[in-house]
Amino acid sequence: MIRPNRIRPTQQIYSNYTKEDFEVWKLLYNRQCDLLRKYASKEYLKALDIVGFSAEEIPDFNRIEEALKPLTGWRLETVPNISEQKQFFEFLSNKQFTATCWLRQMDELDYLEEPDMFHDIFGHVPLLSNKAYTDFFEAISHIALKYIENPKAIELLGRVYWFTIEFGLIRESGKLKIYGAGIISSYGETNNALTDATQKFDFDVKEILNTDFRTDILQDKYFVIDSYEQLYASIPAIESNLEKMI
Ligand SMILES: [Fe+2]
Repeated sequence: MIRPNRIRPTQQIYSNYTKEDFEVWKLLYNRQCDLLRKYASKEYLKALDIVGFSAEEIPDFNRIEEALKPLTGWRLETVPNISEQKQFFEFLSNKQFTATCWLRQMDELDYLEEPDMFHDIFGHVPLLSNKAYTDFFEAISHIALKYIENPKAIELLGRVYWFTIEFGLIRESGKLKIYGAGIISSYGETNNALTDATQKFDFDVKEILNTDFRTDILQDKYFVIDSYEQLYASIPAIESNLEKMI
């Protein structure tokens, strides 16, 4: 149940963060980084430094934008909660990532009914410094806007989004690593993703478009890319396969 008293600001006012917010950030940050040093894509770990995140400070949105400016020019659009689809893709097509600026509370570290800034910022933002990744992200939004009035197309594109941006894996030096924000920002998902209990498939557009997913369980299948460039290179295949399926 969504807590009625939670404040969901539409703008980050840094001085409004409480002592508990800083403690929650620090705890989540340290706990995830302990795992991610071993399991995350090296590009994500490098990007964490680029955007200047640390356990001690809740990220300042202005400083994030300054760090991204010379690399990809992506910016943040602060939203109170999940955006409506059309609005979300419109912002993305304009190189703006919609992000919340509020944090979960101490008694809900592992379960949250909707994404907070630990998911949006810690999970999604570092790779917004990677040009190949953001080129793909932006291209997806253009396809989505083209088909925004077609629910079937949006559902299928949602699968691409889910198995890449949210739950994607990458092969680096022969080892599987995590880059999807849904895994990166979750302790449970990070511990689960690379175990033998889950299925891993090579990245395949057609397969992804035909694979449904559930949002209410730990994931049990993942698609593995070999490079971030492979994502953008798959855009024509996404579009042509999508057209055949709708
Ligand atoms: Fe997300």
